Amino acid sequence: MAKIQHEIEELRELIRYHNRRYYVLDDPEISDAEYDRLFQRLVALEKEYPELVTPDSPTQRVGGEPQTAFRQVKHRLPMLSLENAFNDEDIKDFDSRVRRFLGEEGPFQYTVEPKIDGLAVELVYEKGRFVVASTRGDGYTGEDVTANAKTILTIPLKLKSMSGEHPVPDLLEVRGEIYMEREAFRALNRERVARDLPPFANPRNAAAGSIRQLDPRITARRPLNMFCYGVGEFSTLTFETQYDLMLALQDWGLRVNRPHIRVCDTVEEVVAYCHRLEETRDQFAFEIDGAVIKVNRLDLQARLGEKSRSPRWATAFKFKAVQETTRIENIEVQVGRTGALTPVAHLEPVEVGGVVVRRATLHNQDEITRKDIREGDTVVVQRAGDVIPEVVKVIVSRRTGNEKPYRMPDVCPVCGANVQRKEGEAVSRCPNPACPAQVRASLRHFVSKGAMDIDGLGDKILGQLLERGMIHDEADIYGLTMDDLLKLDKIEQKAATNLMQAIRKSKQTTLARFIYALGIRHVGEHVAQLLADQFLTLERFRKASREELLSVKGIGEEIAESILSYFEDPANQELIERLLAAGITLETVVPSGPSPIEGKTFVLTGSLETLKRAEAKELIVRKGGNVSSTVSRNTDYVVVGASPGSKLEKARNLGVATIDEGELLELLEVSRG
Ligand code: IVH
Repeated sequence: MAKIQHEIEELRELIRYHNRRYYVLDDPEISDAEYDRLFQRLVALEKEYPELVTPDSPTQRVGGEPQTAFRQVKHRLPMLSLENAFNDEDIKDFDSRVRRFLGEEGPFQYTVEPKIDGLAVELVYEKGRFVVASTRGDGYTGEDVTANAKTILTIPLKLKSMSGEHPVPDLLEVRGEIYMEREAFRALNRERVARDLPPFANPRNAAAGSIRQLDPRITARRPLNMFCYGVGEFSTLTFETQYDLMLALQDWGLRVNRPHIRVCDTVEEVVAYCHRLEETRDQFAFEIDGAVIKVNRLDLQARLGEKSRSPRWATAFKFKAVQETTRIENIEVQVGRTGALTPVAHLEPVEVGGVVVRRATLHNQDEITRKDIREGDTVVVQRAGDVIPEVVKVIVSRRTGNEKPYRMPDVCPVCGANVQRKEGEAVSRCPNPACPAQVRASLRHFVSKGAMDIDGLGDKILGQLLERGMIHDEADIYGLTMDDLLKLDKIEQKAATNLMQAIRKSKQTTLARFIYALGIRHVGEHVAQLLADQFLTLERFRKASREELLSVKGIGEEIAESILSYFEDPANQELIERLLAAGITLETVVPSGPSPIEGKTFVLTGSLETLKRAEAKELIVRKGGNVSSTVSRNTDYVVVGASPGSKLEKARNLGVATIDEGELLELLEVSRG
């Protein structure tokens, strides 16, 4: 048996080595046939001795049962995004900002590398073993895609230093981009079309759709790939530069885009290499949508730190968006949730960078005037990443004389109220909060994916419910009955049942989603998450003062003002009460990373200053701690408030640690609310 085990282990090492030569280094040493023989031998041995199978064996990639949902994974460190630079000047500004921030710092280098157009994931390695892969999600919490990531052959299941020079850290979170090569994407689409399945719009969608498959066996058949570009949390790393870190990742068996990472000594070199990459973008086997510029020295990166969404030490130079020519059929005005009137061009459908575009935003009247956009014009439209397509310019030479100049209406096209435009603002607004378009847009927002996520409650159904007076606001949704739904046009029993279920399900949500769903101006998903992380309960958030709001990282005057004025309106307070009365319950997502109080037992005594007893208890439990009512040797902390009882004495007698409320909040990683 020991001999078999030895052979199995040797085979695994050998296969890992050749995997690395093939997938990571692009430099295979043996023929495919020879590799297959090794692999089949291992498969045969493991079949004969199933007790010797280990999760990190190269055979353990495919398979895994389909899941019904993805588990949420909280990132130990947020996965930030990058600020964008659109031209040379922006790059130079970035360089100046970095230098100004660092003060008197001599010359230093930048790394520049392709920005891969895929989706960000994080791989967690513990003692060199791959344990979890998660998507970026909202940057704070992503989805657990471990089973799927395992099927990607470029992701090593075990890290090992090939040179023997770099010990693998006990904990290492690696970040990178999962993507699909262009050729593989085309082949996949050909196959899908042949099987009457809808093709993917572009390689990024194909990659995203493939990694988010509930059945890993499907993912296994999709040609996904990964480039690593950085790290999250780690136990020990001793490298001086980003570039050395990349070399170490490669040495451990992770795939990095090494031939295209360039170390630059000056900002001029950075600019030149960014352009080189842009000019040669079509020669890459995969899509790149920019270049990422990073300060090379890790100590300088640490000193520069980060802002709320992005690090100060890096920026993304975005390549020109993909553009196409088409014609504007007509222009219509849309009324948004906040009453903003947006002119939208309806286009002759055109494919831009793999996506069919039918509409483009014209932003506002000033833009229309500046670009002299008319109905019937032939225009250049562009699409960049996820943003709404826009009209870049008019091709004036294609005018026939039949084009019609456009002026935004003076009254709201939906409710007829006189449109207002504030001094110095480009946006005109419908001032009527009861405007049906505003109400409908607010509801659309409320039920949308990032908010309450009520699947099946689309714009058409909302429209019918509003027109028939069955709902007037968000809270009314929770009073709908099956009978109500069945009265609607074109809805069948099954769809109505599903919708009822979706409505019911949406009542269990998170604080962040709920805050976002309220549609407070300037409070998008990201800000809602910051607020939820800070305040943890709706009550604390609702009562927050201006100072408390401003003390949240990432929240400035404008947002704080908007939140305060939202809560000052009794109608909004009433709406929240009715939503809570309808049974909405809010949880804060529990971090899966280590919590300092995991498994620790607390006893509370005396009255706390800012937290109610129940709140304190809830917060402790959420972070993985226990609350007990009696002090014993098993108690880890006694939290002492004003006029404590005999528990304090008992704690002292037993030598149990006592802490005050401030210390508790620190342990809970909550700042004082
Ligand atoms: S570094 C703090 N390097 O671009 C973020 N990002 O908005 C550090 N991306 O979500 C990111 N290629 O998924 C970095 N070579 C590269 C990249 C890259 C693609 C993505 C990444 C991130 C987004 C930045």
